[in-house]
Amino acid sequence: MREKLVVLTGAGISAESGLATFRGSDGLWEGHRVEDVASPEGWARNPELVLDFYNQRRQAARLAQPNAGHLALVALEQAYDVVIVTQNVDDLHERAGSSHVIHLHGKLMESRSTRHEELVYPMTSDVIQLGDVCEKGHQLRPNIVWFGEQVPLMEQAMQEAATADVFLVVGTSLQVYPAASLLHYTRPDCPIYIIDPNQPPVSAGPNVHFVREPATTGVPRVAQELLSGN
Ligand code: APR
Repeated sequence: MREKLVVLTGAGISAESGLATFRGSDGLWEGHRVEDVASPEGWARNPELVLDFYNQRRQAARLAQPNAGHLALVALEQAYDVVIVTQNVDDLHERAGSSHVIHLHGKLMESRSTRHEELVYPMTSDVIQLGDVCEKGHQLRPNIVWFGEQVPLMEQAMQEAATADVFLVVGTSLQVYPAASLLHYTRPDCPIYIIDPNQPPVSAGPNVHFVREPATTGVPRVAQELLSGN
């Protein structure tokens, strides 16, 4: 049986595709406080601002291309059963060709009803506007998990982490829970590779390998190492 390789990715893997990370040096996300554009309270205060913000993110994501980091994760499928658990809402993993991607924080390219959570629609344009409604007549919003909201796919992600033979963490500051807790569900002897130019808060251990490099060089390097050892 093939070994299972689970990868937790964050904004850093898409940084070199031109998409901004969340926690830039100014603490803002594209000029906004995260709580203004990514929380139910922000939505209640100013839905138009939130829609505009995600409309812009969607346009940027559509223009961006997968980079060597995304592609190296696809190459790992030659030898491993690869499961990507991403905090990213862009679709660069899918567009690179990865076949099993769990979007913990939702998807930019989907809208959903504000009233009926189960009514989710693929986006046919880049824009959601005030007045765009679901089939039951309620306003649409981005299908994104905001701060303070449940993370419905967390249980599934925990099961993947618990059965991983190798675990990679790429481009996440591990500041946001519950995603950051996934590492704690790995088996004690599971090798863990942390690929990030800045070291996130993970304790060193005999099976923890820090690769302090950008995703476009660090992920291909680790992938090559894993593929040549298999
Ligand atoms: N290659 C790899 N990692 C990089 C690169 C790069 N080229 N550039 C930056 N990084 C790293 C940073 O060092 C940092 O550790 O990517 C990480 C980005 O961290 P955040 O901006 O906090 O993004 P992320 O961890 O994905 O945020 C988690 O927070 O705002 C919410 O819901 C949102 O999913 C998001 C969650």
